Amino acid sequence: MSQDTPTPPTAHLRVLTPDGRPPTQQPQWRQDFPIDTAQDNFVARREFTKFMVLISASFVAGQGWIALKSLRGKHGETGPRAIARVDELAVGQAALFFFPGEHDSCLLVRAGEDEFLAYSNKCSHLSCPVTPDVPSGKLLCPCHHGSFDLATGRPLAGPPRRPLARILLEVRDGSVYATGVKERTI
Ligand code: FES
Repeated sequence: MSQDTPTPPTAHLRVLTPDGRPPTQQPQWRQDFPIDTAQDNFVARREFTKFMVLISASFVAGQGWIALKSLRGKHGETGPRAIARVDELAVGQAALFFFPGEHDSCLLVRAGEDEFLAYSNKCSHLSCPVTPDVPSGKLLCPCHHGSFDLATGRPLAGPPRRPLARILLEVRDGSVYATGVKERTI
């Protein structure tokens, strides 16, 4: 090893002090900070490597968690879930429900005697909750005056460019079931 190469701060090298006295006879400041300037680069690199390993591990754990969540979400969509009884909603009324996850809020609207529609109620612009305005046939977003067609979920006005995610429904045995989520780009 050349003389310019930083020396690893192994235990036996830390006790090599400029005056040659053992560590117990060194001033308190040297006992508190036993790393010399020449070893500083090595320590910095070692700390940096530790830091990078820690960041990488956190990143991998985060990615794993996201993958697990999305896997669960997809599986959750496959099973139909009862969200309301038909007689609970009069024509023109709407109800909030959560699908496929417990934090995914959606709107169920009874648009006609036999017509039920459901959408994610997260505005496709910046995720504000939309509210139904059944008489005008729209879903309205109060944040930036966006509006969506109640029949299709497509944007009609304001900044939103993408339709609302549609919740697929099935009506049977007097109940309305959510069976899946259809994300659309146009
Ligand atoms: S968040 Fe809905 S219009 Fe902006």
